[in-house]
Amino acid sequence: MSHKRSLSSAPGKVILFGEHAVVYGRPAIAAPVTQVQASAAVTPAAPGSGLLIAAPDLGRQVTLSTAPPDDPLAAATRLTLAHLSAPEPDGILTIHSTIPIASGLGSGAAVSTALVRALGSLLGRKLPADSVSEIVFEVEKIHHGTPSGIDNTVIAFEQPIYFVRERPVQRLRVAAPFTLVIADTGIRSPTKKIVAHVRRAWKREPAHYDALFDQIGDVTDEARRAIEAGQTSALGPLMDENHELLIEMGVSSPILDELVEAARFAGALGAKLSGAGQGGAVIALVEETADLDLAEIIGALTEAGARWTICTQVDSPYHAS
Ligand code: PMV
Repeated sequence: MSHKRSLSSAPGKVILFGEHAVVYGRPAIAAPVTQVQASAAVTPAAPGSGLLIAAPDLGRQVTLSTAPPDDPLAAATRLTLAHLSAPEPDGILTIHSTIPIASGLGSGAAVSTALVRALGSLLGRKLPADSVSEIVFEVEKIHHGTPSGIDNTVIAFEQPIYFVRERPVQRLRVAAPFTLVIADTGIRSPTKKIVAHVRRAWKREPAHYDALFDQIGDVTDEARRAIEAGQTSALGPLMDENHELLIEMGVSSPILDELVEAARFAGALGAKLSGAGQGGAVIALVEETADLDLAEIIGALTEAGARWTICTQVDSPYHAS
């Protein structure tokens, strides 16, 4: 075992297309957001002291040996140690995160990913992305109940993905990078609650909801073709269409709709809620070369009530090839 301090990190994420429908087997598109990060560091301690996990930003501290099975930090640790067939190390695992909680930016999955990577590195083992993703998926089940697996996949692979649940990850080739503004309502939106709300509605009206999921799947497939062809301007109307379908699904809210409208009015090519909805964030697509538009869109979103905005670029490692 290494005696050095092991520091690892993981980005946030944003869903571009297909949230909720992805839980029902339709495709979705997501990308990492590197402007926000979770990080984890393990400092070795004296033999016999066991592992203490501290997450001051989340107001959490647990001792591994006494933490309950459903504690997400302890669960991520136990799953990683089991995967590596390693005993509990002696040390202090400290986690920090700049990713807002319950805003659709993948805070839970990013914290778990950073933790899993830090433990792997402490034990001298670099875990491949698919193993990290599998471990984090198990932890996501504690947070979310029935997660599709999109958060753990996009965060562990750290690149834009086209995702269908229970299928191998498909990396997305972004032919022309594009810019998004993410704007948060400041309203925390627990994914588990909204996913359960959609499930109840689907059970009441299965034909209606299946049709909505199918339409979202079609929009997502069109968006994939546009992204791979470098047709960024085609993405705007597809985002608008996806937002309308999410409104019909009952997961939007007045403030989400106001932010979407404000972004479009200020010149965004398209906008939609992102993540579970009923709170959390919206995303707006900004024309590639328009600095002026960017400032105007950010200003309009702030005036319409956004708590914070992040500007991020969607690109893939395959872009140059
Ligand atoms: O974690 P969030 O808020 O980005 O939502 C995840 C997206 C959902 O499709 C609503 C749920 C899921 O597990 O895919």
